Amino acid sequence: MTQTDFIPKPVSKTIESGTFTWSAPSNIALVKYWGKKAHQIPANPSVSFTLNACKTITSLSFQNKENHNDFSFDLLFEGKPKEDFRPKIEKFLQRIETYCPYLKQYHFTIDTQNTFPHSSGIASSASGMAALAMNVMSLEKELYPEITDDYFYRKASFLARLGSGSACRSIKGKVVVWGKHADIADSSDLFGVAFPAKIHPNFNNYQDTILLVDKGEKQVSSTVGHDLMNGHAYAEARFNQAQGNLSKLKNVLENGDIQSFMQIVESEALTLHAMMMASMPYFILMKPNTLEIINRIWEFRQQRNIPVCFTLDAGANVHVLYPESDKVEVLQFIQSELLGYCQNQQYICDEIGNGSLLINNE
Ligand code: DP6
Repeated sequence: MTQTDFIPKPVSKTIESGTFTWSAPSNIALVKYWGKKAHQIPANPSVSFTLNACKTITSLSFQNKENHNDFSFDLLFEGKPKEDFRPKIEKFLQRIETYCPYLKQYHFTIDTQNTFPHSSGIASSASGMAALAMNVMSLEKELYPEITDDYFYRKASFLARLGSGSACRSIKGKVVVWGKHADIADSSDLFGVAFPAKIHPNFNNYQDTILLVDKGEKQVSSTVGHDLMNGHAYAEARFNQAQGNLSKLKNVLENGDIQSFMQIVESEALTLHAMMMASMPYFILMKPNTLEIINRIWEFRQQRNIPVCFTLDAGANVHVLYPESDKVEVLQFIQSELLGYCQNQQYICDEIGNGSLLINNE
């Protein structure tokens, strides 16, 4: 598929008004997306676990309007006006306009909320943009009832990507690949696809306990970090490494080899942060407590022979990943040894989930 496949024919009908509500989860990358080309095309393919508990719930109400020249929307966060989010939404609407030419016909009210604490340091852009893209596609489905389910979800992921790259992995599927890769059938730089092979039962209900190490505003946004991969001394080697790691991880997800899983995932997390440290200008998003936690996890793993590993996103928080069968021991370890390194002892228990969900359609 190419991007022109997502441009619809001129719309023949108008709908007066309606409301949809979708939830979309956050996701945690195992092979990281870090570096992009123009139009949100990733420099390398990535793969993530879809989460279950950390999600954004967004309602989109629309009303036909007379003037079709501009975008028009009200933005609410937890029911109250939220002006700071407007520029992001405005930019998103501009980016998707070619593919959704009907948007200027309506006035929208967007009401959004997250299940995870505000300013927890958990990125809401993936779940937020995914939930909004699902709502836009519900409107598109009303206007073009003939579109197939497959097209609906592919285009939702395509639109979400234009809002925030990682958001395209929050639409559908437990494990999602985004970016063209020779070993993954149907993979594309334009949208995420559900992992095409059967996943080994060792990964059923895989757990992700998120340790909130630092809830402060990040000094360097992901968008700036991606940009710093242009002209980065190690960029090409890193993009090749990600290709190789995705091949390896594909096999691991099928054969259930958790030792290799931990090795690839931890190496990806540390490489992501190594890229940040080797950027010009350089920066560090880990905090001393991030390193303390990593060392404690390594000690625990060695002493107890329990397959617990970590990954990091673009921040100081630590995602602790482990099989469901080890939940009791690992949670005990987290509570007794790791919570002291978290801000206000805060953590979130999550696990692999399925993707976005329609909550309401009026
Ligand atoms: C480190 O998707 O937030 O979490 O496309 O600029 O919105 P933009 O970036 P974003 O980058 C996420 C980077 C990451 C790795 C990952 O999720 O793959």
